[in-house]
Amino acid sequence: MSAPPLQDLYWPPVRPFEGLAPELARFLSAPADAQAERLARLRTDPEAHGRFLHEHLATLTSRSLGYRDGPATLTRDDDLEIALFAARTRLERELFDAWATPAPVPELHTQEAAADHLDALAADNSGVSHPLFHYLARDATRDRIEYFVRCELIRNEVVDDEVALLVVGLQGKQKAVAAANLWDECGRGRLENFHTYWLRRQLGSADGWEELARYRREHPWYAKITSNLFTALLTRPSRTQAAYGCFFVFESWVEPHFRLLLEGMDRVGLHDEDMRLYFTAHTRIDPRHSQELSDGLRAQRPRLSPAELCQVLRGAHLAVDAGTRQYDRLLRHLER
Ligand SMILES: [Fe+2]
Ligand SMILES: [Fe+2]
Repeated sequence: MSAPPLQDLYWPPVRPFEGLAPELARFLSAPADAQAERLARLRTDPEAHGRFLHEHLATLTSRSLGYRDGPATLTRDDDLEIALFAARTRLERELFDAWATPAPVPELHTQEAAADHLDALAADNSGVSHPLFHYLARDATRDRIEYFVRCELIRNEVVDDEVALLVVGLQGKQKAVAAANLWDECGRGRLENFHTYWLRRQLGSADGWEELARYRREHPWYAKITSNLFTALLTRPSRTQAAYGCFFVFESWVEPHFRLLLEGMDRVGLHDEDMRLYFTAHTRIDPRHSQELSDGLRAQRPRLSPAELCQVLRGAHLAVDAGTRQYDRLLRHLER
């Protein structure tokens, strides 16, 4: 059986590593107390703080997935790897303790109550009803909609690997649900049904691939927030349950957001099936995915401790905060 035509291009659409940003290189070589001081100073300027954290976390966390655009993914350099890991640990701490502003988590002691809380949260939060998506449906020009579609491609290009990381460390029902989600991401074994293959179809030929690779330098830091949060939760053992809660929220947003995006695409005449398939398919798949995640929590055995339940809810509230702040900034950017 031959591979479908777009399968030959490297995925994700990134060029090989081109060197560290000078600012990140300086941070890596600074001693621990100087790194801490640098971050503390940045907090007085929220824009500079957010930009520094999210630009560099994007480099450091995407490295954990091993793609060719990351530092020390194709070469052997133990000293650099140690410095990268130390810097990532420090930036993630800054992300959770100084940058993130999640709502307080209620104290719930049963899985059933926590799952009910997740379902209620999914129906009503500042991200699900964000004005960005009403703007896309009603007001955005074709050009702005295409820009947003490209942001979504970059946000979703490695989602199968994110879900693969989610499987690690879960048990029982939660693991089964995450594994089923991963199998869907992998097209249930058919290359042309990989969800990333639908993104390949958005890019089309090698020209589209090149154009995206060229664009990446300009991709704004605030479009990287949710990916950074999720990867930071996925790649550290103590945050497994928080990653589960975070993913639940992201999955629950897909259908309402994509429905409005598709309305906008209709309005401006973007009818091309290759552009739309990723979105139309997900409006059908992801309501089921989010339902499975909350049901998986409800039915989980062995039962989660109150501390683990608290982590699930914390992850969900972190996701709402991160997504809302990302959409606020993207809306401002698109309306300019
Ligand atoms: Fe998907
Ligand atoms: Fe999904």
